[in-house]
Amino acid sequence: MAGNIEVIVCPDAQGVARRAAGIFAALIRSKPSAAIGLATGSTPEQTYAELARLHRTEHLSFAKVTSFNLDEYWGLDGDHDQSYRHFMNTKLFSHVDIRPWNTRVLNGRAANPQLECQAFETQILSVGGVDLWLLGIGGNGHIAFNEPGSPVDSRTRLVSLTPSTIAANSDGRFFKDPAEVPRCALSAGIGTIREARQLMLLATGSKKAAAIAAAVEGPFTPDCPASLLQDHPSCTFIVDREAAAGLRSH
Ligand code: PGA
Repeated sequence: MAGNIEVIVCPDAQGVARRAAGIFAALIRSKPSAAIGLATGSTPEQTYAELARLHRTEHLSFAKVTSFNLDEYWGLDGDHDQSYRHFMNTKLFSHVDIRPWNTRVLNGRAANPQLECQAFETQILSVGGVDLWLLGIGGNGHIAFNEPGSPVDSRTRLVSLTPSTIAANSDGRFFKDPAEVPRCALSAGIGTIREARQLMLLATGSKKAAAIAAAVEGPFTPDCPASLLQDHPSCTFIVDREAAAGLRSH
C-alpha cells in the first residue's frame, strides 16, 4: 500500500507555509463556504500567518468558511493560554474574517466528553464533511492525538497522551514543565480524519524525518498512525528538506 501519498518537498519551513496556505486559498476561492480542518502546534503557525497575510492583502475571505480543529487538551478551558482554542483564536481566527460561531474546537471542559465528541462528529456531517484537513505529525507518527496503536476506524474520543508527546509539548515551546501538560485530550479519530475529502500534512525539521519516512514508505500500520493515510485518495505531505531526509525516493 505504501506509495500513495504525494510528497512535496520545499526548501524550508517558509516554503511549506506558502505552499499550504496557497492550497487553502485556492479551495476557499473556488468554494467560499468550504469546511476546513485545522491543526495546532508549532508547524502550522507560519501557514496561519500566511493565511492572515492573504486575507489582509489579497482579499481572501473566510466569512462563509466553517472550521473544525483536530483536538483539545482535556481539562483546559478555552481561555487557558495553552488551550488549542486560545491558540487558534490568537494565531488565526482573530486575524481573518471567519465568524467565531463557525469555528469548532472541542470543549476540553465539556460535562460529558462522549457527548461532546459525538456532537463534533455530527457537526462535521451537518456541513457535508470536511473539504480539506490540515495535519501535523508527531515524532512518534501521531496525527492529532491519535498515538501509536490507534485504530484506523477510530472516531472522536477521549484519549491518553504518550510520555513522548507530553515531553514534546513541554520542551519550552508550550508548557514549561511536563507536570503541567494534561494527560488526556479529546481528539478526532483516524476514521474521522480519513473521511475528509483532501488531507494535507505538514512537517518541518529533522525531528520529523523518521516519522515521515515511516508514514510514506513504511507499512500501513497503527504503529505509525500517519501511515494509515496511505490509502487516502487525496493525501499530500508538504515537508521541508530536513523532514524529507529519511525518504528513499526524494
Ligand atoms: P508540532 O506538533 O507542530 O508542534 O511539532 C505536531 C504534532 O504533534 O502533531
